[in-house]
Amino acid sequence: MSEDSAQQTPEEISEYWARYYKVTVDRPAWETVRTAIAGFAAQDAGAPSSRFAVDLGCGAGRDARELLKAGWRVLAVDREPAAIETLTAATPAELRPMLQGRVEDLATVQVPPCDLVNASLCLPFLAPDAFWPTWRRVLDALPVGGRVAAMLFGDMDASASDPTMTCVPPDRIRDSLTGFDLEHWSVTEEDRPTALGEMHHFHLIELVARRTSQD
Ligand SMILES: C[S@@+](CC[C@H](N)C(=O)[O-])C[C@H]1O[C@@H](n2cnc3c(N)ncnc32)[C@H](O)[C@@H]1O
Repeated sequence: MSEDSAQQTPEEISEYWARYYKVTVDRPAWETVRTAIAGFAAQDAGAPSSRFAVDLGCGAGRDARELLKAGWRVLAVDREPAAIETLTAATPAELRPMLQGRVEDLATVQVPPCDLVNASLCLPFLAPDAFWPTWRRVLDALPVGGRVAAMLFGDMDASASDPTMTCVPPDRIRDSLTGFDLEHWSVTEEDRPTALGEMHHFHLIELVARRTSQD
Protein backbone atom coordinates (compact mmCIF):
# COMPACT_ATOMS: atom_id res chain seq x y z
CA MET A 1 0.00 0.00 0.00
CA SER A 2 1.14 3.57 -0.48
CA GLU A 3 3.41 4.99 2.18
CA ASP A 4 0.81 7.43 3.47
CA SER A 5 -1.79 4.76 4.28
CA ALA A 6 -2.14 6.24 7.79
CA GLN A 7 -3.88 9.20 6.12
CA GLN A 8 -6.30 7.18 3.97
CA THR A 9 -10.05 6.93 4.57
CA PRO A 10 -11.74 3.49 4.59
CA GLU A 11 -13.20 4.34 1.15
CA GLU A 12 -9.75 5.14 -0.24
CA ILE A 13 -8.36 1.91 1.22
CA SER A 14 -11.19 -0.12 -0.42
CA GLU A 15 -10.61 1.66 -3.73
CA TYR A 16 -6.88 0.90 -3.50
CA TRP A 17 -7.47 -2.79 -2.89
CA ALA A 18 -10.11 -3.02 -5.66
CA ARG A 19 -7.47 -1.79 -8.12
CA TYR A 20 -4.98 -4.28 -6.63
CA TYR A 21 -7.40 -7.19 -7.21
CA LYS A 22 -7.90 -6.23 -10.89
CA VAL A 23 -4.13 -6.28 -11.43
CA THR A 24 -3.35 -9.46 -9.45
CA VAL A 25 -6.33 -11.73 -10.14
CA ASP A 26 -4.51 -13.69 -12.83
CA ARG A 27 -1.10 -13.69 -11.17
CA PRO A 28 0.44 -17.03 -10.14
CA ALA A 29 0.48 -18.26 -6.54
CA TRP A 30 3.44 -17.25 -4.36
CA GLU A 31 6.36 -19.61 -3.85
CA THR A 32 5.59 -19.90 -0.13
CA VAL A 33 2.17 -21.48 -0.62
CA ARG A 34 3.49 -23.69 -3.43
CA THR A 35 6.28 -24.90 -1.14
CA ALA A 36 3.78 -25.72 1.61
CA ILE A 37 1.48 -27.58 -0.80
CA ALA A 38 4.47 -29.61 -2.06
CA GLY A 39 5.45 -30.45 1.53
CA PHE A 40 2.02 -31.90 2.25
CA ALA A 41 1.90 -33.68 -1.13
CA ALA A 42 5.18 -35.43 -0.35
CA GLN A 43 3.76 -36.64 2.97
CA ASP A 44 0.40 -37.66 1.51
CA ALA A 45 1.80 -39.54 -1.50
CA GLY A 46 -0.10 -42.78 -1.91
CA ALA A 47 -2.47 -41.85 0.91
CA PRO A 48 -4.89 -39.20 -0.39
CA SER A 49 -5.83 -36.82 2.35
CA SER A 50 -8.42 -34.07 2.53
CA ARG A 51 -6.47 -31.04 3.68
CA PHE A 52 -7.89 -27.79 5.05
CA ALA A 53 -6.23 -24.37 4.69
CA VAL A 54 -7.06 -20.92 5.99
CA ASP A 55 -5.90 -18.20 3.59
CA LEU A 56 -5.69 -14.90 5.48
CA GLY A 57 -5.89 -11.64 3.53
CA CYS A 58 -6.69 -13.68 0.43
CA GLY A 59 -7.09 -10.70 -1.91
CA ALA A 60 -8.04 -11.79 -5.43
CA GLY A 61 -7.16 -15.35 -4.45
CA ARG A 62 -3.97 -16.34 -6.25
CA ASP A 63 -2.99 -18.63 -3.35
CA ALA A 64 -6.50 -19.83 -2.48
CA ARG A 65 -7.05 -21.02 -6.05
CA GLU A 66 -3.71 -22.86 -6.05
CA LEU A 67 -4.83 -24.72 -2.92
CA LEU A 68 -8.25 -25.51 -4.42
CA LYS A 69 -6.59 -26.84 -7.59
CA ALA A 70 -4.45 -29.10 -5.40
CA GLY A 71 -7.60 -30.59 -3.85
CA TRP A 72 -7.70 -28.59 -0.61
CA ARG A 73 -10.70 -27.16 1.23
CA VAL A 74 -10.09 -23.46 1.77
CA LEU A 75 -11.44 -20.83 4.12
CA ALA A 76 -10.47 -17.49 2.54
CA VAL A 77 -10.63 -14.41 4.78
CA ASP A 78 -10.36 -10.75 3.84
CA ARG A 79 -11.77 -7.50 5.22
CA GLU A 80 -12.74 -6.33 1.72
CA PRO A 81 -15.96 -7.81 0.27
CA ALA A 82 -14.45 -7.16 -3.20
CA ALA A 83 -11.66 -9.63 -2.42
CA ILE A 84 -14.08 -12.47 -1.72
CA GLU A 85 -16.20 -11.50 -4.75
CA THR A 86 -13.16 -11.44 -7.05
CA LEU A 87 -11.82 -14.74 -5.71
CA THR A 88 -15.21 -16.46 -6.03
CA ALA A 89 -15.79 -15.19 -9.58
CA ALA A 90 -12.30 -16.33 -10.64
CA THR A 91 -12.72 -19.82 -9.14
CA PRO A 92 -13.86 -22.54 -11.56
CA ALA A 93 -17.42 -23.65 -10.74
CA GLU A 94 -16.35 -27.23 -9.96
CA LEU A 95 -13.96 -26.00 -7.23
CA ARG A 96 -16.35 -23.55 -5.55
CA PRO A 97 -17.93 -26.14 -3.19
CA MET A 98 -14.47 -26.47 -1.58
CA LEU A 99 -14.19 -22.70 -1.01
CA GLN A 100 -15.64 -20.72 1.86
CA GLY A 101 -15.16 -16.96 1.78
CA ARG A 102 -15.45 -14.81 4.87
CA VAL A 103 -15.36 -11.01 5.19
CA GLU A 104 -13.58 -10.43 8.47
CA ASP A 105 -10.82 -8.35 10.05
CA LEU A 106 -7.55 -10.16 10.68
CA ALA A 107 -7.24 -8.21 13.92
CA THR A 108 -10.07 -10.25 15.45
CA VAL A 109 -10.48 -13.34 13.26
CA GLN A 110 -10.49 -16.64 15.12
CA VAL A 111 -8.35 -19.00 13.07
CA PRO A 112 -9.91 -22.50 13.16
CA PRO A 113 -7.70 -25.58 13.59
CA CYS A 114 -6.31 -26.41 10.15
CA ASP A 115 -3.44 -28.05 8.28
CA LEU A 116 -2.12 -24.79 6.82
CA VAL A 117 -2.42 -21.10 7.55
CA ASN A 118 -1.34 -19.05 4.56
CA ALA A 119 -0.76 -15.32 4.98
CA SER A 120 0.75 -13.58 1.94
CA LEU A 121 1.46 -9.84 2.25
CA CYS A 122 -1.48 -9.18 4.58
CA LEU A 123 -0.38 -9.31 8.24
CA PRO A 124 1.91 -6.24 7.83
CA PHE A 125 -1.28 -4.20 7.35
CA LEU A 126 -2.12 -4.73 11.03
CA ALA A 127 -0.84 -2.26 13.61
CA PRO A 128 1.53 -3.80 16.20
CA ASP A 129 -1.16 -4.13 18.90
CA ALA A 130 -3.12 -6.41 16.52
CA PHE A 131 -0.24 -8.01 14.59
CA TRP A 132 1.31 -9.95 17.47
CA PRO A 133 -1.94 -11.42 18.91
CA THR A 134 -3.01 -12.42 15.38
CA TRP A 135 0.39 -14.02 14.70
CA ARG A 136 -0.04 -15.96 17.97
CA ARG A 137 -3.53 -17.14 16.92
CA VAL A 138 -2.11 -18.24 13.54
CA LEU A 139 0.54 -20.40 15.22
CA ASP A 140 -1.89 -21.71 17.86
CA ALA A 141 -4.31 -22.93 15.13
CA LEU A 142 -1.77 -25.48 13.91
CA PRO A 143 -1.56 -29.03 15.24
CA VAL A 144 1.70 -30.97 15.15
CA GLY A 145 2.33 -31.52 11.42
CA GLY A 146 0.54 -28.30 10.45
CA ARG A 147 2.32 -25.56 8.53
CA VAL A 148 2.34 -21.78 8.30
CA ALA A 149 3.30 -20.09 5.02
CA ALA A 150 3.80 -16.35 5.32
CA MET A 151 5.12 -13.27 3.56
CA LEU A 152 5.85 -10.48 6.05
CA PHE A 153 7.61 -7.12 5.93
CA GLY A 154 10.91 -6.65 7.74
CA ASP A 155 11.86 -3.56 9.73
CA MET A 156 13.87 -2.04 6.83
CA ASP A 157 10.76 -1.92 4.63
CA ALA A 158 9.57 1.51 3.42
CA SER A 159 6.32 0.93 5.34
CA ALA A 160 8.16 0.65 8.67
CA SER A 161 7.46 4.33 9.45
CA ASP A 162 3.69 3.82 9.03
CA PRO A 163 2.16 3.42 12.52
CA THR A 164 -0.84 1.54 11.10
CA MET A 165 1.45 -1.24 9.84
CA THR A 166 3.87 -3.76 11.37
CA CYS A 167 7.31 -4.35 9.87
CA VAL A 168 9.22 -6.71 12.12
CA PRO A 169 12.89 -7.51 12.65
CA PRO A 170 13.28 -10.96 11.01
CA ASP A 171 14.83 -12.38 14.21
CA ARG A 172 11.63 -11.67 16.15
CA ILE A 173 9.69 -13.87 13.73
CA ARG A 174 12.32 -16.61 13.90
CA ASP A 175 12.23 -16.47 17.71
CA SER A 176 8.44 -16.85 17.70
CA LEU A 177 8.72 -20.18 15.87
CA THR A 178 9.74 -22.43 18.76
CA GLY A 179 8.26 -25.87 18.23
CA PHE A 180 8.45 -25.39 14.43
CA ASP A 181 10.84 -26.72 11.81
CA LEU A 182 11.70 -23.85 9.46
CA GLU A 183 11.45 -25.48 6.03
CA HIS A 184 11.83 -22.29 4.00
CA TRP A 185 13.28 -18.94 5.15
CA SER A 186 14.24 -16.06 2.92
CA VAL A 187 14.91 -12.41 3.76
CA THR A 188 15.44 -10.03 0.83
CA GLU A 189 15.70 -6.29 0.31
CA GLU A 190 15.11 -4.56 -3.01
CA ASP A 191 13.66 -1.45 -4.60
CA ARG A 192 10.92 -2.35 -7.04
CA PRO A 193 7.40 -1.28 -7.99
CA THR A 194 4.37 -2.60 -6.12
CA ALA A 195 1.68 -4.42 -8.11
CA LEU A 196 0.15 -0.98 -8.70
CA GLY A 197 3.38 0.49 -10.04
CA GLU A 198 4.52 2.59 -7.03
CA MET A 199 8.26 2.31 -6.27
CA HIS A 200 8.77 0.76 -2.84
CA HIS A 201 11.72 -0.43 -0.77
CA PHE A 202 10.75 -4.02 0.05
CA HIS A 203 12.22 -5.91 3.00
CA LEU A 204 10.48 -9.21 2.58
CA ILE A 205 10.44 -12.16 4.97
CA GLU A 206 9.17 -15.36 3.35
CA LEU A 207 8.77 -18.51 5.40
CA VAL A 208 7.25 -21.95 5.56
CA ALA A 209 7.38 -23.66 8.96
CA ARG A 210 6.02 -27.00 10.13
CA ARG A 211 4.93 -27.56 13.72
CA THR A 212 6.92 -30.39 15.28
CA SER A 213 5.81 -30.06 18.90
CA GLN A 214 3.21 -28.26 20.99
CA ASP A 215 5.87 -26.11 22.78
C1 LIG B 1 -1.21 -6.96 -0.59
S1 LIG B 1 -2.79 -7.69 -0.57
C2 LIG B 1 -2.37 -9.42 -0.65
C3 LIG B 1 -3.47 -10.25 -1.21
C4 LIG B 1 -3.11 -11.70 -1.48
N1 LIG B 1 -2.74 -12.40 -0.27
C5 LIG B 1 -2.01 -11.77 -2.51
O1 LIG B 1 -0.89 -12.12 -2.14
O2 LIG B 1 -2.28 -11.46 -3.67
C6 LIG B 1 -3.30 -7.51 1.14
C7 LIG B 1 -4.70 -8.02 1.44
O3 LIG B 1 -4.87 -8.00 2.86
C8 LIG B 1 -6.17 -7.50 3.14
N2 LIG B 1 -6.15 -6.89 4.47
C9 LIG B 1 -5.39 -5.85 4.88
N3 LIG B 1 -5.67 -5.56 6.17
C10 LIG B 1 -6.63 -6.45 6.57
C11 LIG B 1 -7.32 -6.66 7.78
N4 LIG B 1 -7.10 -5.92 8.87
N5 LIG B 1 -8.22 -7.66 7.83
C12 LIG B 1 -8.46 -8.43 6.74
N6 LIG B 1 -7.84 -8.28 5.57
C13 LIG B 1 -6.93 -7.29 5.48
C14 LIG B 1 -6.46 -6.49 2.04
O4 LIG B 1 -7.85 -6.25 1.91
C15 LIG B 1 -5.82 -7.16 0.84
O5 LIG B 1 -6.75 -7.99 0.19
